[in-house]
Amino acid sequence: MTNPADSPYVRACRRLSVPHTPVWFMRQAGRSLPEYRALRGTGSILDAIADPAIAAEVTMQPVRRYGVDAAILFSDIVVPVHAIGFGIDVVPGRGPVVAEPFRDAADLSRLRDLSPETDLPYVLETVDRVVAELGGTPLIGFAGAPFTVASYLIEGGPSREFTKVKALMHSQPDLWVALMERLTAGSIAFLRAQVEHGASALQLFDSWAGFLSPSEYECFALPATTRIMEETADLGVPRTLFGVGTGELLSLMAQSGAEVVGVDWRVPIDEARRRIGPGLAVQGNLDPALTFASHEVLVDATRRVLESAGTAPGHIFNLGHGVLPTTNPDALQVVVDLVHGEGRAGVLQ
Ligand code: CP3
Repeated sequence: MTNPADSPYVRACRRLSVPHTPVWFMRQAGRSLPEYRALRGTGSILDAIADPAIAAEVTMQPVRRYGVDAAILFSDIVVPVHAIGFGIDVVPGRGPVVAEPFRDAADLSRLRDLSPETDLPYVLETVDRVVAELGGTPLIGFAGAPFTVASYLIEGGPSREFTKVKALMHSQPDLWVALMERLTAGSIAFLRAQVEHGASALQLFDSWAGFLSPSEYECFALPATTRIMEETADLGVPRTLFGVGTGELLSLMAQSGAEVVGVDWRVPIDEARRRIGPGLAVQGNLDPALTFASHEVLVDATRRVLESAGTAPGHIFNLGHGVLPTTNPDALQVVVDLVHGEGRAGVLQ
């Protein structure tokens, strides 16, 4: 059995040579897969996540089907705050919804310390099961970055304008820092536990960071992310930092300490590399909407990403954001096969 640390995915994160450009997809497990829909039924996703047999099977489904280079743990960014009883649910078609949103200092007491082994034993059992089944394929553990998780807690659900979270961070900076500190500590503990149970890499999802200006990002979001990177560095696994609409933030994200920066489809890989600077790997960035286009368009768009990445080491192919629930899995198979066949980033010629 090969060691996941020697897999194309982990090697590409470290900007080492690879036999082929690695590829995986954010949200590769989920509603786009008929085998997922058959297994899940209609209950809350939080119930599925709490059942290690189901969660492990769902994590494995895309690995078996597509032959992707990494598995991502089937969980959600709000699972840790749910586990400590903040009162959060995930509504199908909508996303995380909070019954009583975070408003003031009194709400800090609703965010007690997270101890992963006792609060999230089912997630860690899922990690154990998946790692045992994966063999040499790496498992990516993950957490939500504090800003993005806080945006759900404060807005009470998915938001388009982020008015409440921005009002709070600007008007009550001390409260904001206290909230960030709680979420940061929980993320660190949870990420560490996933690696201790065998995850070979980590990804921090700061999905909504792109709604911040560079100075807001630097002041209100980056410090928490940087601390998470500092406090997980000794684990020795590559860490990816991803957000949507972060073209103007890429150079700041590159300062976080992450080994890999994930980019959405708005910035081509070569330009993203210029903004990120040397020394980091880059992940992305096919527009997920193009999986709905004709075969020719999809092939051309995939090749454009590969061309933009070129032959320099340190490219992990992915979509610019998650797989959409109505995506045809066959389109993703086309992408995987093309990337494996034609991707040249870090491939010895
Ligand atoms: O395959 C994978 O990527 C692993 C599983 C995963 C889920 N959520 C499962 C899920 C991961 C990595 C996440 C992370 C997550 N959750 C993020 C960061 C990634 C991103 O998309 O930016 C965010 C912002 C969330 C919050 C969240 N949870 C949203 C916006 C939604 C979608 C709501 C919907 O129904 O369209 C969820 C629910 C969710 N998380 C689903 C899945 C498979 C769909 C719900 C279901 O199947 O019942």
